[in-house]
Amino acid sequence: MGAIIVVDALWGDSGKGKVAGYLSRREHASLCVRAGIGTNAGHSVYLSEQEVIRTRQLPLGFLHPSTAVAIGSGVAVDPRIFAQEVERYDLRERVTVDYRCPIITEDHIRREQESQHLSEKVGSTKSGSGMAQSDFVLRLAKQAKDCPELQPYLADVAKLANEQAQAGTIIIECSQGTFLSLALSPDYPYVTSGNCTVAAAADDVGLSWRNISGAMMVVKAVPSRVGAGPMPGEMNADEIQQRGIAEYGVVTGRLRRKAAEIPWDMLRYAALLNGPTEIALTFCDHYDPSVTGATTPEQLTQTVRELIAKVEQATGAPVTMVETGKLFEHIVDLRGAH
Ligand code: IMP
Ligand code: MG
Repeated sequence: MGAIIVVDALWGDSGKGKVAGYLSRREHASLCVRAGIGTNAGHSVYLSEQEVIRTRQLPLGFLHPSTAVAIGSGVAVDPRIFAQEVERYDLRERVTVDYRCPIITEDHIRREQESQHLSEKVGSTKSGSGMAQSDFVLRLAKQAKDCPELQPYLADVAKLANEQAQAGTIIIECSQGTFLSLALSPDYPYVTSGNCTVAAAADDVGLSWRNISGAMMVVKAVPSRVGAGPMPGEMNADEIQQRGIAEYGVVTGRLRRKAAEIPWDMLRYAALLNGPTEIALTFCDHYDPSVTGATTPEQLTQTVRELIAKVEQATGAPVTMVETGKLFEHIVDLRGAH
């Protein structure tokens, strides 16, 4: 019973979408709600080598057939991207949008593209999310209820989420990462346009604290960052290529910067801010290629086991999920192993 909130510990791109999809199935969730900023986030999950699911607006809870999906009222909605994703993944009967969501217009996107500050200094994804959020704060933005094409999908998602969290389990999927939080990262202005913590995600949805039952913090075994800002232990592009772990952003196509090791002080701080009850340790195949594709605890190597122990010590929470490859099924469930 209750809501499990999925957040990222560092700079995002850790596979929160896949984790939310996996949890929707594990918990037989009735609902998976998108929290976070807007369409600046990009999720991708491989169902097979040929079939990849990519979204920027919708949460990946729909990977479980009986989970409905929704967008919380604090999330900026781009009606064009929303329509494409609903169409592509055939979600017309399973998706709702809070009627209060701020709307991203083409003008917001153009203004972000024209902003030298966002392009050159911040390294924004220029999705229009920040401009829409800023117009919302100024009380200038349109809301979902003002948008003719969103009429069939409108709902009071806050009410839905709280009621369903009282009747069963729901999943809340946040975007970006704790250290990209506007008011909590030490790296301002190299941050996004809102906070990306458990408390912020609850607020994005309108979820009462009484209805939160858990916090899944996703930790990327080889952390990455896109855009500007400090990154302790950053590898150079040659090292990234040599290790064969190059990744490109889902929204922007940019090469992701990588750190050689998890920054442990930062991870402890993320645990302090988010209060995780469990941890998903993702991209372990980038940390130790010999675990690629593992699905059982016995297949994990000593190297990965040592990393799990260090992460548990730093966060004070058990690692319950280990991701070992890019396919949806490349996950080791460690719940029985503790
Ligand atoms: P914006 O939110 O698109 O304006 O980008 C602000 C900062 O957050 C930039 O450094 C982006 O690279 C970063 N950022 C935004 N969205 C994501 C994401 O989904 N993953 C990782 N970094 C992101
Ligand atoms: Mg928010």
